[in-house]
Amino acid sequence: MKTQVVIVGAGPAGLLLGQLLHRAGIDTLILEQRSADYVLGRIRAGVLEAGSVEVLERAGVAGRLHAEGLIHDGFEIGYCGSRHRIALKEFTGKSVTVYGQTEVTRDLMEARSAAGAPTVYEAEDVSLSDLAGSPRVTYRHQGRTHEVQCDFVAGCDGFHGVCRRSIPADSIRTFERQYPFGWLGVLADFAAPWHELIYAASERGFALASMRSETRVRCYIQCSLQDSVEQWSEARFWEEFGQRIGSDLAAKIPQVKSLEMSIAPLRSFVAEPLRYGNLFLAGDAAHIVPPTGAKGLNLAASDVFYLHEALEAHYREGSSTALDGYSARALRRIWRAERFSWSMTRLLHSFPADAFDQRMQQTEIEYLLESRAAQAALAENYVGLPL
Ligand code: FAD
Ligand code: DHB
Repeated sequence: MKTQVVIVGAGPAGLLLGQLLHRAGIDTLILEQRSADYVLGRIRAGVLEAGSVEVLERAGVAGRLHAEGLIHDGFEIGYCGSRHRIALKEFTGKSVTVYGQTEVTRDLMEARSAAGAPTVYEAEDVSLSDLAGSPRVTYRHQGRTHEVQCDFVAGCDGFHGVCRRSIPADSIRTFERQYPFGWLGVLADFAAPWHELIYAASERGFALASMRSETRVRCYIQCSLQDSVEQWSEARFWEEFGQRIGSDLAAKIPQVKSLEMSIAPLRSFVAEPLRYGNLFLAGDAAHIVPPTGAKGLNLAASDVFYLHEALEAHYREGSSTALDGYSARALRRIWRAERFSWSMTRLLHSFPADAFDQRMQQTEIEYLLESRAAQAALAENYVGLPL
């Protein structure tokens, strides 16, 4: 079998790249180790930057997003029992759109199948060879082994995927920071008593009040890395969430069963460069941000936007300049999002810090809440730096 680009991974990065390349007349094969239902069942990000919405428009998959997505012109920071609004639109002229990663993924899957472009779900043991020359990708599907020859491989297979691991150790450098806590998330069906997202720093730890639609909420609390979901009953979650978010809102949370409950660790991670021979990394395969600030999905979108432009220039004009520049161009934006996610995580969570660090954290939040200049910088980063 032959194709132009093999994309490993059918998460948002892989599917969006596939759709952008399809519209540019470039053939792709997507190999995904899980089933489509499994991919759709993962509850992850929920906030899209205006730039990501534009990329989804270019990919021709923004119809439902515009019909159902919720436009937010600001968000709130909870601190010491009160809430302070960060006026995104006022500071930047831009808004963000609340629309779940699950829905983005569903829209992309439907567009791909309508286009008749091939995706192999449940592709096992994907393995890459000859990356420095004419790449070959092998995989097993339904008990048979297949081999595909291609011009390029796009590694969109997430943090635990095979692509980054296929790069020789002396050709890649990694940077990492782990945080001493996780996020416990709950998805539940009720109308949120908050109108915009609330990022709350409390003495008991961080909490985030988010939503997926007018009738579905998504909430998180900072938890211990030793915690398991089984230790957290729904009643205990809402009790703790209520204490952190404020009693006025806590009183309006109904007793309903949750649809999903999961714990995610927090990590910052970057691999450099994003290219080895004819393999290009994009999305979580190349970098991880802690979720505070909602940058993970948005970075996946900007990476694949740059990568599709570079591949298009290669096939259309025979020019390798953009492919040669892909890594540096994407990393510039990645490091800025890493900086923002790291600083927002540091600002709002409880750390095992000494007395000096605690005072510094308090001073930083109080400065932010009093300084329009600091709020403007926060807003500029939150709505997303230009592509
Ligand atoms: P992924 O979505 O991870 O997709 C990679 C795909 O590759 C997967 O479908 C995987 O099954 C497949 N794959 C892996 N290995 C192989 C292989 N060997 N062969 C074939 N296929 C393979 N971001 C936020 O902004 N807010 C959040 O609340 C948030 N919550 C998160 C919770 C969790 C548990 C995780 C892991 C991430 C979360 N993120 C969040 C980050 C955000 O969801 C990611 O940044 C985004 O999914 C990146 O998309 P991606 O396509 O690069 O990677
Ligand atoms: C959501 C997740 C985030 O990490 C964030 O910063 C905002 C919203 C969410 O899942 O809704």
